Amino acid sequence: MRAAFYTRQGPAADVLTIGEQPTPEPGPGEVRVRLQWSGVNPSDWKTRKGGGGRQLIAPLIIPHSDGAGVIDAVGDGVPASRLGESVWIWNGQWKRPFGTAAEWIALPSAQAVRLPDGVSTEDGACLGIPAFTAMHAVRLVDAAPGMTVLVTAGAGSVGHYAVQMARARGATVIATVSSDDKARHALDAGAHHAVNYRAHDFAAQVRALTGGHGVDAVIEVNLTANAAQLPGVLRPHGQVVVYGITGTEATLPALWMMQASIRLRFFMIYDIAPADRQAAQDEIDSLLRAGRLRHTVARRLPLTRIAEAHDLVESGTLMGHVLLDVRAI
Ligand SMILES: NC(=O)c1ccc[n+]([C@@H]2O[C@H](COP(=O)([O-])OP(=O)(O)OC[C@H]3O[C@@H](n4cnc5c(N)ncnc54)[C@H](OP(=O)(O)O)[C@@H]3O)[C@@H](O)[C@H]2O)c1
Repeated sequence: MRAAFYTRQGPAADVLTIGEQPTPEPGPGEVRVRLQWSGVNPSDWKTRKGGGGRQLIAPLIIPHSDGAGVIDAVGDGVPASRLGESVWIWNGQWKRPFGTAAEWIALPSAQAVRLPDGVSTEDGACLGIPAFTAMHAVRLVDAAPGMTVLVTAGAGSVGHYAVQMARARGATVIATVSSDDKARHALDAGAHHAVNYRAHDFAAQVRALTGGHGVDAVIEVNLTANAAQLPGVLRPHGQVVVYGITGTEATLPALWMMQASIRLRFFMIYDIAPADRQAAQDEIDSLLRAGRLRHTVARRLPLTRIAEAHDLVESGTLMGHVLLDVRAI
């Protein structure tokens, strides 16, 4: 099969290659998916680039955890009724060398989730990391009617889903953005308010929107950059759920957090507990079935342009997901 791969870490253009690799066969409990789209996420370029403790886990890596396509073979123990199912994929390249940047992937059956009728494989390839991360964060803060949730990066891939999911659960949502375009994008997704986090009076605006109390919870894209703002925007006994940092550390307003009894939680979406995975998957599935999730594709590129795709995602300038068409090779 045709695939994109690398055998050493480094800059995208230097290490990513397109070539022939063996077509996988499904093992026991596995399905094989004929892929249509491969989704690119920040962790894909971070893993390819190396650093921060990220090592090559095998001599050859086919990158990307997210993708979508159609099951065309099943291994022992998997019902033949799965053949022909349109599926979206999670953890395609987590602790496994061969991800979705290829014509086929074979992986455990549970990691290929049936797409509801009417949801395209293009939409399905957006879901994996961003939708699971947003859903798990929204579940951890237990977004519900009567709560106000601050979703940082409301126009980011994860944040845009988090806005929709918190809103669908009945919470009041304040999204942070850095431009008018991003504000429109977050408001279109269901945010009640969008506030520019770079404005000098950002915290005052958030407090004003909450009647001076502060929000009940923050879903945080970058604790390193934003921790200092927490006392200005979060109410006592509030909670912060962190899915992103820059670098390796963050400085916390620890005295205030202790005096205000703040709950702080981190997670890595690849590695959440099976019960949390199932609960998040079920909630994503019911949102998809109800037609309540919007997906934003910023760029569609052929697989051959994978290096450009990695650089685009790394640039952080896009609003939406980057998908690679793995049939266009
Ligand atoms: N823990 C996990 O399991 C997990 C899962 C998924 C993603 N992540 C991490 O989460 C981050 C975002 O991922 P993504 O896929 O959503 O990326 P993305 O689509 O590039 O979105 C990132 C967004 O963050 C905004 N932003 C940057 N700095 C900010 C700040 N200090 N405060 C508020 N917003 C800020 C950017 O917009 P502006 O122009 O408005 O700044 C951009 O919209 C990445 O670092 C990724 O590695 C972690």
